[in-house]
Amino acid sequence: MNTPTNNTPRITIFDTTLRDGEQSPGCSMTPPQKLVMARALAELGVDVIETGFPASSQSDRDAMALIGREVRQPVLAVLSRCLAGDIETSVKALEAAARPRLHVFLSTSPLHREHKLRMSREQVLESVHRHVSMARGYLDDIEFSAEDATRTELDFLTEVAQVAIAAGASTINLPDTVGFTTPEEIRAMFQHVIANAAGADKVVFSTHCHNDLGLAVANSLAAIEGGARQVEGSINGIGERAGNCALEEIAMVLKVRNAFYNNFDTGFDTRRIVPTSQLLQRLVGMPVQRNKAIVGANAFAHESGIHQHGMLRNRNTYEIMRPEDVGWESSQMVLGRHSGRAAVEARLRALGYLLEEEELKLVFEQFKALCEQQRVVTDADLQTLMQGTSSSD
Ligand code: KIV
Ligand code: ZN
Repeated sequence: MNTPTNNTPRITIFDTTLRDGEQSPGCSMTPPQKLVMARALAELGVDVIETGFPASSQSDRDAMALIGREVRQPVLAVLSRCLAGDIETSVKALEAAARPRLHVFLSTSPLHREHKLRMSREQVLESVHRHVSMARGYLDDIEFSAEDATRTELDFLTEVAQVAIAAGASTINLPDTVGFTTPEEIRAMFQHVIANAAGADKVVFSTHCHNDLGLAVANSLAAIEGGARQVEGSINGIGERAGNCALEEIAMVLKVRNAFYNNFDTGFDTRRIVPTSQLLQRLVGMPVQRNKAIVGANAFAHESGIHQHGMLRNRNTYEIMRPEDVGWESSQMVLGRHSGRAAVEARLRALGYLLEEEELKLVFEQFKALCEQQRVVTDADLQTLMQGTSSSD
């Protein structure tokens, strides 16, 4: 893996489908299922795979051991609270990993300090220092996450980052745990912490955005603008509540709008995106909505006559990326009430029917009548229609 600093044109992709994603209600996976998914993630080209939270369950410990033996290229990470027992369990679980990373987290926001942790600022700083140092005593690759960073006072967040860096963390993650922030705000947060925390130039800053307001991808991109060089998220955006940042969307934004985003590259084999998404949908039994960007069934489907006409002349008129580049076979011209004659004619020609102008006029009228009865007209419907036309000749 390319290990980026804050100056290189490479965005590290940290996939948490198997940890935060799995926390999505109804998305739990068995260790063998996690292994299948981890292999697919490695093929897709993610840099870091977070396999689970070993202190939380035997299943997560088993999954880590299984994946550690079989998946050797990406960094494998596990999550751990700032507790000595969690860290010991996590380190043991990571023994199988070729490239282990321990991901330690603690809440930093006033709300969490007061109501969840019942800790003062000083106690939080002391715990971060103690537990990151302890983790670093076992492993070189330590990530520290300041949970609920986006609702934390900026001066305190900066201090927390500084303490974690001094204690040996090499990645500092500033999560938008509850999907509360906005692009402008998160950009400014990263800029501030990176500019003011001592040692910030020696570590990679990471963004981890939740999607409660539908802003996870936009916020992650703004975090990159603010200096983050690792993006955390999941396939199909699965995760707690409304989910995490959808990694397939980040990969394609950076590819399609490459010039705008400084030529940053994710290292994804983007043709693996749709197969990986579909694998996850099958494993967890949670289909994505048809209009989901990139991986939804309608992402490259065109129905309106004007769009289909444009597409038939030049696909760039209504497609900003090629479906083949993300793993779909092709675009789809869906024939329905909004379709025009050009699309019907093109489909008929593909099915082997070359019609004269008058014939086409008649078939198109019949097609329109059929659209009053059903939403979509399939190839089989067109064939039936053509048989009817020729038998009435
Ligand atoms: O959303 C969050 O803050 C997290 C951390 C544990 C990284 O998932
Ligand atoms: Zn999260």
